[in-house]
Amino acid sequence: MSRVFASALRTARLGKTVRQVLASTPTDELVQVNGWVRSVRLQKRVAFAMVHDGTCTQSLQVVFPDPRMPHRLTNGASVRLTGRLSSSPGPGQAVELLAESLDILGECDPVTYPIQKQTLSSDYLRDHAHLRLRTDSPGAVLRLRGQAMQALHRYFERHDFTYAHTPILTSSDAEGAGETFRVAPLTSPGSTAGAPAHSYEFFAKPAYLTVSSQLHLEAIASAVARTWTLSPCFRAERSQTNRHLAEFWMLEAEWAFVDSVAGLTQVVEDALKEVLRLNTTERRLLWKDADSDKHALLEEAAGDAQWAHMTYDAAIRALQLREASSGVKFQFPPVWGHALQSEHERWLADELVCGPVFVTDYPAALKPFYMRLNDDGKTVACFDLLVPGIGELVGGSLREERLELLEAALERHGMDKEAYRWYLELRKFGGAPHGGFGLGFERLISWIGGIDNVRECIPMPRWAGRMLL
Ligand code: 4AD
Ligand code: MG
Repeated sequence: MSRVFASALRTARLGKTVRQVLASTPTDELVQVNGWVRSVRLQKRVAFAMVHDGTCTQSLQVVFPDPRMPHRLTNGASVRLTGRLSSSPGPGQAVELLAESLDILGECDPVTYPIQKQTLSSDYLRDHAHLRLRTDSPGAVLRLRGQAMQALHRYFERHDFTYAHTPILTSSDAEGAGETFRVAPLTSPGSTAGAPAHSYEFFAKPAYLTVSSQLHLEAIASAVARTWTLSPCFRAERSQTNRHLAEFWMLEAEWAFVDSVAGLTQVVEDALKEVLRLNTTERRLLWKDADSDKHALLEEAAGDAQWAHMTYDAAIRALQLREASSGVKFQFPPVWGHALQSEHERWLADELVCGPVFVTDYPAALKPFYMRLNDDGKTVACFDLLVPGIGELVGGSLREERLELLEAALERHGMDKEAYRWYLELRKFGGAPHGGFGLGFERLISWIGGIDNVRECIPMPRWAGRMLL
């Protein structure tokens, strides 16, 4: 290889990140670091800057032996620094960079820059979603999402679940909750650009954004036995709560040859414990100023003890008993046959159990058509996992694999059997008992990161009335 070519290759290679530099030992070699300035401190004989590149929670302390060197440096500017790593005499970092050269790559006007040094509220940061990831907590949340995803990846890989990419465009509302977004091209053939395409269906039938990958995962699980995905889901959910988004990510797993709800919940519990046991600087930063009781509950959930289980029936009786014994009424009376409201879920997880609880066997009428009917003919083999501070984190069930019962359920729900022909065929051709679950990824991040609102758990949140960028 020619010398010129070899040196071009070297500069094309990725340089060291701040995280890598902070984990290095001091050397005499020159290192180059790129990043954004978090703060500058000018003294008489020396100057300091903290430089951050978002690869870890910490910033690199840079020491300028000549205080004139960083005189034009402001917070937010992007820089390229070259220098030598030396062990740091100050607290908080093992090494620091003794700068020999500084290039300001992009200046940042300190007067109009919206990210100032004082603590900024969640609302303010939401209004500056394009910049908020530069700040500590949102940056840590972003990396925590990646860490949680990798932990789940490890769990599913170990257990031979095949990762699948499922469609975002669908022809059905899997949950039957009427929260689907319609998809249509902006123009139909022959129409003028920009005019709405009234009667033109691109796919020759109505198309929607997916609300859940479950039905497609069932087809995949009938081929590879165990499968999972982490995929965006879309729901025209109008309620403005701290746990609902219009675009969110759902982790879904589906597997064949499982024949009990306990078999499903064991996988949920084992997979989640893998995430709960993550001990990263991101999690420590997010919990730094949070409620210590809340944190203790989370630590307990990560322990070896099995999580609580109760049937829907027992949950309703516990809620009724609580009303009778305390005299305090819930806003919605707990009645068998009615959905558990958020206030009920919160009481069960936050106060009755003080930890995660699987509520199982809900009335069939409250749940979607695909859940497997129990022998009592009234309830279905399903569960919701309720966790403190959030309520429902996971929902799952055995799926109805008996063809006649599935057809009857479709009819009961007033659904078009023809549209679900492929789904029914999965039962006809080698149908096997199977089941799975869906977990709201932002709710998981909210739980493990101690973050009050799912709007802070996704980089660019969307909810009814709001899509900033
Ligand atoms: O309970 P859900 O609606 O279940 C399903 O869609 C099933 N098909 C999943 C399956 O079995 N494969 O949604 C699953 C989870 C909920 O428990 C909740 O955590 C989350 O998805 N979720 C939302 N998260 C944020 N914003 C929303 N609007 C959400 N809707 C559901
Ligand atoms: Mg649910």
